[in-house]
Amino acid sequence: MLRIAIQKSGRLSDDSLNLIRECGISFVNSSLKLMTECTNFPLEILFLRDDDIPGYVADGVADIGIVGQNVLVEEGKQELTVEALGFSKCRLSLAVPKSTNYTSVQDLDGKNIATSYPNLLQAFLDEKGVQANIHTISGSVEIAPGIGLAEAICDIVSSGSTLISNGLKEVERVFKSEAVLIASPQLTAEKRQILEKLLFRIHAVQRARR
Ligand code: PRP
Ligand code: ZN
Ligand code: MG
Repeated sequence: MLRIAIQKSGRLSDDSLNLIRECGISFVNSSLKLMTECTNFPLEILFLRDDDIPGYVADGVADIGIVGQNVLVEEGKQELTVEALGFSKCRLSLAVPKSTNYTSVQDLDGKNIATSYPNLLQAFLDEKGVQANIHTISGSVEIAPGIGLAEAICDIVSSGSTLISNGLKEVERVFKSEAVLIASPQLTAEKRQILEKLLFRIHAVQRARR
């Protein structure tokens, strides 16, 4: 039995479950159960917070996982990557209130920026030679300028509707991301074999989608 960790609720949840279903794997999905066993494939699904997925896979609590590159690279766990999956594409961007007169990234010098991605943001600011105060918060980042916590934010943008709803505009792209399949480095031979079977099906699904 192979254990896969996927996001419980968020941008990647539906895409991840759809991929598993399109692989011909059946399971009962109740929103209250955090674990479900597939009925026709040796796979067990764990529903977790995306931020926790790289850590669980690194520790071998889950064997494999589907997570955004944004979370993986932020946590410095790129070495777990098996392959990019081509869905849940998004970007990590800097945004400021619509009314801000923004001309370049230098405008952020000395400013406060709220984000859940301090490492990716710091690397970007270092590269641009900008010094800002990074405030790390774990969610609802888009609210920060409105409540006076920061002049700018750095968060994930997909459709852009969260930014618009909160009166913000995207001003810089920091990182491009999509869903990736990750695996624990210490899989048993038996688990590795199940992963190979799963990958075979994933590749067939990807070919059919193209
Ligand atoms: C991101 C981000 C916004 C949303 C933006 O959350 O924090 O909430 O997606 O999407 P939109 O541009 O389509 O409105 P994400 O699902 O990545 O993860 P989280 O719940 O862990 O913050
Ligand atoms: Zn998250
Ligand atoms: Mg969010």
